[in-house]
Amino acid sequence: MKILVTGGAGYIGSHTCVALLEHGWDVVAVDNLLNSSRESIKRVERITGGRIHFYQIDILNKPALANIFRQHKIDAVIHFAGLKAVGESVEIPFQYYHNNITGTLILLDVMKENNVRHLVFSSSATVYGDPDRLPIQEDSRLCATNPYGRTKLFIEEILKDIHSSDNSWNFALLRYFNPVGAHETGQIGEDPLGPPNNLLPYIAQVAVGRMPHLNIFGNDYDTPDGTGIRDYIHVVDLADGHLKALSKIFTNPGIAVYNLGSGRGHSVMEMLHAFEKACEKKIPFKIAPRRPGDVASCYADPSKAEKELGWKALKSIDDMCKDTWNWQRINPNGYK
Ligand code: NAD
Ligand code: UFG
Repeated sequence: MKILVTGGAGYIGSHTCVALLEHGWDVVAVDNLLNSSRESIKRVERITGGRIHFYQIDILNKPALANIFRQHKIDAVIHFAGLKAVGESVEIPFQYYHNNITGTLILLDVMKENNVRHLVFSSSATVYGDPDRLPIQEDSRLCATNPYGRTKLFIEEILKDIHSSDNSWNFALLRYFNPVGAHETGQIGEDPLGPPNNLLPYIAQVAVGRMPHLNIFGNDYDTPDGTGIRDYIHVVDLADGHLKALSKIFTNPGIAVYNLGSGRGHSVMEMLHAFEKACEKKIPFKIAPRRPGDVASCYADPSKAEKELGWKALKSIDDMCKDTWNWQRINPNGYK
């Protein structure tokens, strides 16, 4: 099988490339390197001893994308390429809608022209907004609360409409909860541009001395210790979920939607303590006001993925913190 991975140099994309190569599949990766580095591709090749056909292109560039489909006989696509910062999406919504939605439409158009009808799409738990019930099941109410979330929700709707009009398409919509961690070698991991938006990369940068302290956004939520609760999932487990989703769409299921989470909620305080254990240091923190748009608690019911894909998150928060710390310690400045 030859799999095209869009956004293959990024955080989740690079870990999924490792899983694909280790599974013995051919990998073609495209990325415009807007939020990533060519170095991650080299390191994936080093970890696996495999080879990636890598192209630095923008998926908005239809002729360049079409050229890749001419050069390679692609069997399926895993579509990670997209902009993902919630706050930034509020400031520059046009770029988010254009990049994420137009980019997906161009990809689908090129796939159709080349008769490639299998796609795994990176959706997000952000499509549940403020969840109406916990744990969140796939049929929970959908309600995105920011432009980034709406791009995910609209793309899901677009894929559903395309499938309704032509059932030769097969789509897996994977709603990730909170991806964290890094490959156990410490060679690839999350390398945010500028100050991290997300909890674990921020804690890791405090631990390595790049940031003075963590701001905890609110300790007055209706949760046992007052801090926000999320469902953290190790990126290596997540990568494995993509392999399982690919196997599923090759059975021609039409549209298949899955939560990829651990099913367990952990508070900010719990994550902080788990990280302190992993790095054997105290992490200085301050209690700051709540971050606008944050919800108190969000965690998955992942039982559908277990039942239909045979997939389950295996790694604990201790594994997540250990591997994040290992990556950050070996690469204090990321790929630079
Ligand atoms: P990432 O930024 O590390 O990876 C995305 C990659 O896509 C980057 O390498 C970027 O350079 C590339 N890219 C962006 N626009 C492109 C374009 N027009 N053409 C070519 N390449 C382009 O992010 P990630 O964390 O690996 O996320 C991957 C996907 O998963 C994204 O779609 C994201 O929205 C989704 N997701 C991420 C999270 C998370 O917390 N990391 C949670 C839920 C969903
Ligand atoms: N938090 C802090 N301090 C920080 C960063 C985060 O206290 O510096 C807290 C947040 O308030 C929240 C928790 O840590 O309670 C997790 O925050 P993240 O920013 O790591 O994750 P979110 O759940 O807010 O958002 C993430 C992705 C979104 C995605 C969402 C659901 O960033 O893109 O998960 O999948 F939509």
